Amino acid sequence: AAQAAPRHFLELSDFDAATLRQMLDLAADTKRGAVADKPLAGKTIALIFEKPSTRTRVSFEVGIHQLGGHAIVLSSKDMQLGRGESAADTAKVLSRYVDAIMLRTDSVAKLRELAEHATVPVINGLTDVSHPCQLMADVLTFEEHRGPVAGQTIAWVGDGNNVAQSFIQAAARFGFTLRLATPPELAPPAQLVDWARREGATIELTSDPVAAVRGARCVVTDTWVSMSDEKEGGPTARHNMLAPYQLNAALLQHAAADAIVMHCLPAHRGEEITAEVIDGPQSVVFDEAENRLHAQKGVLLWALGAG
Ligand code: CP
Ligand code: NVA
Repeated sequence: AAQAAPRHFLELSDFDAATLRQMLDLAADTKRGAVADKPLAGKTIALIFEKPSTRTRVSFEVGIHQLGGHAIVLSSKDMQLGRGESAADTAKVLSRYVDAIMLRTDSVAKLRELAEHATVPVINGLTDVSHPCQLMADVLTFEEHRGPVAGQTIAWVGDGNNVAQSFIQAAARFGFTLRLATPPELAPPAQLVDWARREGATIELTSDPVAAVRGARCVVTDTWVSMSDEKEGGPTARHNMLAPYQLNAALLQHAAADAIVMHCLPAHRGEEITAEVIDGPQSVVFDEAENRLHAQKGVLLWALGAG
């Protein structure tokens, strides 16, 4: 018998705005304690990590526990996946045991293969090209501090990396203007920017951080050397390219007076952001980190149809 397609959470671009909003509403409901007790009772979720994690690992495990479910945290090194078993076979096997699978991987192709062969929901816990769970938390955080994000201007300064690319998708779905200042070499893929513009988003690309930040209601940055860049052989080239994009007090001066500062963490004080800014009054980075927990509960409740 044909089964309903599992509710994967792979890319923000896969969804319409209303479905993402439904997940955020569930997140806000769980945060204020307005969700039925133990909606994931009897459910088991596998959390697979091919790369390190603090926030994603702990927030998923704690969130699942708080919703009454059970999490199994797996390092791919300890799985046959780490020694060549295919993502397809892994998906088919795990689908017989668990109710959902989260994967953090370098390879978006591996995530897609897992999702294609899983009969349970697959959640993207970061790839080399996206980090949608982060953006759900970021939108929740912006809206808690500054109200509806639609029509607002958010500035991204630094590397056009996985988080930046999910910001572009979020701009298309949540209706905010996104200005990205990156070195030309580290600009986000033109194909993705074109897609977002076709979807009606306002995406402005520049190599001038001051132009990007001017008047913005929120300024965001991220590490200069992402996990997938570590194999490039030394961070020096990136540091040289990205130094002019540091989020410091002088740059933040150009933003709206009430601008908030976000960073997905982990941060490197004195590199992409100064201590003064990340530890200063405009920074909401720890609210943002906390919201990973709440946002992912919303995603899980939606994916498991338990909302
Ligand atoms: N922001 C984020 O995803 O952090 P971790 O790498 O610690 O999970
Ligand atoms: N861009 C960073 C985000 C970490 C959460 C990385 O991929 O390493």
